[in-house]
Amino acid sequence: MIVLGVESSCDETGLALYDTDRGLLSHALYSQVAMHEEYGGVVPELASRDHIRRAIPLLQQVLDTSGVAKHDIDAIAYTQGPGLAGALLVGSSIACSLGLALDKPVLGVHHLEGHLLSPLLASKPPEFPFIALLVSGGHTQLMRVDGVGQYTLLGETLDDAAGEAFDKSAKLLGLGYPGGPAISRLADFGDPLAYKLPRPMMHTKDFNFSFSGLKTAVLTVVKNHPAQGIANICEQDKANIARGFVDAIVEVLTAKCVSALKHTGLKRLVIAGGVGANAQLRASLNAAAAKKRFQVFYPELEFCTDNGAMIAFAGAMRLQINPAAAKKDYSFNVRPRWPLDELRVV
Ligand code: KG4
Ligand code: ZN
Repeated sequence: MIVLGVESSCDETGLALYDTDRGLLSHALYSQVAMHEEYGGVVPELASRDHIRRAIPLLQQVLDTSGVAKHDIDAIAYTQGPGLAGALLVGSSIACSLGLALDKPVLGVHHLEGHLLSPLLASKPPEFPFIALLVSGGHTQLMRVDGVGQYTLLGETLDDAAGEAFDKSAKLLGLGYPGGPAISRLADFGDPLAYKLPRPMMHTKDFNFSFSGLKTAVLTVVKNHPAQGIANICEQDKANIARGFVDAIVEVLTAKCVSALKHTGLKRLVIAGGVGANAQLRASLNAAAAKKRFQVFYPELEFCTDNGAMIAFAGAMRLQINPAAAKKDYSFNVRPRWPLDELRVV
């Protein structure tokens, strides 16, 4: 079965073809980062308009590189939510129009389920059950995953998501958008002893997170800095602050993963979402895995951030469980807010 995946929930347009026999056939991505950069964040209306411009050429690209003809597509999976309403509407309308034109069934996919299952696209995929840490720009959740559609939420952020904390702290340090990769690179040159920032909720017995206080701590350091203003802080001290921030967030994320594994008795940890690309987080989790004897799995770097491959794959997994999940019903709707625990398949 060949599934076309369409992702357009935020600022990346992603198209991909996944074959349940042969694996991922091709995928193509267009990132709008450069366009949003000058505004310091995603501008929803610009995002929607750009998805319209990019989707069809990307579709042609995945067809050309895979050699698949349009009529060989068996089903079309598109991101139905959560995400920006206008951006989601573009992908949904393109997927449904294509389904109608080709007489193929369509299926709305949950964006976070795409992230959650993306490590299964790797050459050495994890087996179920596992603990998943989902760390993206909009979400931070710890989940127990027993199979496709079998997700139990263990804990989540009470305020900012991890990616949001990275982006906001990077902005306070005068770095561009998205700030995650930039603050991470800068932190590599920082002195770990220069700024010890708070580790919010690290020792609470639950699996929840809170990152807005950490961002405020960065703000306070910058405000009270003797250089008076971010523009006057020297590069080395900016790197020291970045290091203080990254060390704090990585330590909290690692500690909560370790305690979720201990609590459930599971030995496999899967990391998904954009922050999963973070080098310091990976180093810390790898060290914990070696010490505490568990396995840790990551998506391929290109599948950490938003992409069409994870949507095609999640759609294909759903259809293998229930072929009737895709329908020739093209009256689409989007779900900008959509709790993942509503997804249970029985
Ligand atoms: O999963 P994603 O592409 O989009 C959402 O669904 O939100 O995640 C984007 C987030 C952004 O906040 C970005 O700054 C963060 O992932 N990110 C990183 C890194 N690469 C992306 N954060 C820290 N280190 C990175 N290397
Ligand atoms: Zn995402």
